[in-house]
Amino acid sequence: MNLDTLKPQITDIINNNVDVKKTMQSICDLLQSNIDTYNWVGFYMAHQSEPTLHLWSQAGIPTDHLVIPFGKGICGQVAVSNSNFVVEDVHAQDNYIACSIHVKSEVVIPMFKDGKNIGQIDIDSNTINAFNESDERFLEWINVQVATLL
Ligand code: SME
Repeated sequence: MNLDTLKPQITDIINNNVDVKKTMQSICDLLQSNIDTYNWVGFYMAHQSEPTLHLWSQAGIPTDHLVIPFGKGICGQVAVSNSNFVVEDVHAQDNYIACSIHVKSEVVIPMFKDGKNIGQIDIDSNTINAFNESDERFLEWINVQVATLL
């Protein structure tokens, strides 16, 4: 699907923001229900003092991993690398936290506010190698929109 077709709906959700966690939830729901390969969508946000990531909102099968230490798993690595992480095959990763046996690929895109890595959007797919550069650009765009609310 052309991901850009979802941008007007995301802009509407952002413009109607009242409660940022609910806004993030609406974005998770929109992505997970409209994009076949986005089987799980969540926002993990950084708590720098601990230092850990905390799950603020998610769509898809509930995960036990509500808090992830910096450095652990794909998400924790992105918290310290400040770089996108596209995982073609999660089973080929040593430092990976499994949330569901069905997941085959994953993408994690950091979110920045005033140059600081404040969290990330995490997408799991039950399809191998599900993510490309269009997904990266689209998810970066979403993070920029969400960061304006934080
Ligand atoms: N797979 C992630 C953990 C989060 S779940 O996918 C919901 C990781 O390795 O960091």
